[in-house]
Amino acid sequence: MGRLDGKYALITGGTSGIGLETARQFLAEGATVAITGRSTERLETAGRELKGSVLTLQSKSGDVVAQEALAARLSGSWPRLDVLFINAGDVTHRPVADWDEATFDALMAVNLKGPFFLIRALLSLFPEGASIILCGSVSAHIGLPQSSVYAASKAGLLSLARTLSGELKERGIRVNGLSPGPTETPALGKLGLEREAEAALKAEIRQLVPIGRMGTPTELAKAAVFLASNESSFVVGTELLVDGGVGSL
Ligand SMILES: NC(=O)c1ccc[n+]([C@@H]2O[C@H](COP(=O)([O-])OP(=O)(O)OC[C@H]3O[C@@H](n4cnc5c(N)ncnc54)[C@H](OP(=O)(O)O)[C@@H]3O)[C@@H](O)[C@H]2O)c1
Repeated sequence: MGRLDGKYALITGGTSGIGLETARQFLAEGATVAITGRSTERLETAGRELKGSVLTLQSKSGDVVAQEALAARLSGSWPRLDVLFINAGDVTHRPVADWDEATFDALMAVNLKGPFFLIRALLSLFPEGASIILCGSVSAHIGLPQSSVYAASKAGLLSLARTLSGELKERGIRVNGLSPGPTETPALGKLGLEREAEAALKAEIRQLVPIGRMGTPTELAKAAVFLASNESSFVVGTELLVDGGVGSL
């Protein structure tokens, strides 16, 4: 028997990294899974990697109208939504002087505003016992240079785990944060760095981690399975740090 048998699960940003691996693990545990992404091409590739057994939905996380359309699309296909994993994220890091209003707003839209309105649009689809998982980051707890806007967006998102749990507990809906530390995913490659600079950054990041290595998408996906499953039924309004000790040691 799978730990997610009979559950319907939506993962935003399921075409790569932590989201893609979580889709794989959710499927292996018996869930029916839908993933989102911006690019139809990457969605098709992910769909093939997952052996065609997922619903792939093109949707931009920062667009509020698109969140409503996504919720309407799911309501038309599924009887309920047991698990929502808000995973898509804009990971832009840059010095404070290099931000402007447009780039600030764009990151906040993807990481905080879009997720809030997606949850709002999905409210009627969540049954008793539903689990909402918000992908935060250990960056919300440390003072990493160049992470100002990103870390603030994740701190805001993690705050929703508490406030929305408080508001939705009468309906038996749990909201929790899942905060990765540095994790080996394609995200780093999207920062536009030269190969050597990327390798140097990786070495620097590894030094940040008390256990001396980056995490793997599988390690994050296993934690997502726990939070999605009924095994975590007493875990409400909190945050699970899966970060090799970065935020605690
Ligand atoms: N990797 C780390 O070290 C680390 C550490 C802490 C927290 N996190 C968090 O973990 C989450 C996943 O990161 P990852 O490392 O797995 O990244 P990744 O490999 O780059 O994957 C990001 C996923 O999000 C999707 N995405 C990005 N922007 C989107 C948008 N505007 N609308 C819809 N989908 C969008 C991407 O799809 P398309 O490109 O196809 O749109 C992709 O599926 C993020 O929230 C990130 O902040 C990562």
